[in-house]
Amino acid sequence: MEKKNNAPIGVFDSGVGGLTVAREITRQLPRESIVYFGDTARVPYGSKSKDTIIRYSRQIVRFLQTKNVKAIVVACNTASAFALDAIESELDIPVIGVVKPGAKSAIENTKNKRIGIIGTEGTIKSELYTEYIHGKDPEITVIGKACPLFCPLVEEGMLHDSVTEEIARRYLDELQEQNIDSLILGCTHYPLLRSTIGKVMGENVNLVNPAYETAISLGRLLEEKRLSADSGAKPVYEFYVSDAADKFKSFANSIMPFEIDETNRINIEEF
Ligand code: DGL
Repeated sequence: MEKKNNAPIGVFDSGVGGLTVAREITRQLPRESIVYFGDTARVPYGSKSKDTIIRYSRQIVRFLQTKNVKAIVVACNTASAFALDAIESELDIPVIGVVKPGAKSAIENTKNKRIGIIGTEGTIKSELYTEYIHGKDPEITVIGKACPLFCPLVEEGMLHDSVTEEIARRYLDELQEQNIDSLILGCTHYPLLRSTIGKVMGENVNLVNPAYETAISLGRLLEEKRLSADSGAKPVYEFYVSDAADKFKSFANSIMPFEIDETNRINIEEF
């Protein structure tokens, strides 16, 4: 049988947000290769229907399979909320989303049992985080808030802008008054706004980054399935998008810990 351990991990998102997850994987699992796909032609996912997100996710999975990936990380909260179950049941390789790892960490760390969750409209309306948290501990109060302007602000690179802070205050002031002790950054773009969100929420609120937790869960899953890369493996990173490859590349180079020389555009509708 062909040895799969050094095959890449497929990671996908609606755009650049999933790079926060890819970045954590490269930090925590430095021998693992990655094929990243950002659906930059069809971003945002956060305002689209469940059926559409499932159709998009299936196409992306078919593309990633042409790269012989050994596992798939759905590095998008919206796609994890809407499409994870569908694609997981159709594949015979491990698939992991970002919702459960983030929720699990928040449950383990809350002291006053009051957790906030911010994300896209789709993620918040799906109530998947709330369902998962209540499945583990029904006594926890979960307060969700959609922050639809955060993604475009990140995509425009306005990470430390006064406009971003003003918008963050509008969204988060009401959460701030709810006495939560943990806030899940339930959209893969949001860890890039961590300092602004932290400033608004104050130091008593623990910000949970599902990207970090997902990389931990992925490492465990690969070990369990005996799929971890060999000890001498040299990682290879490939980046694909459905549009605007140069814009994606310069954004990726501003946040990834290594230089990306090439980003390829593919026609995802062909898959
Ligand atoms: N990165 C996506 C997520 O984590 C949100 C961006 C979008 O709306 O496409 O939900």
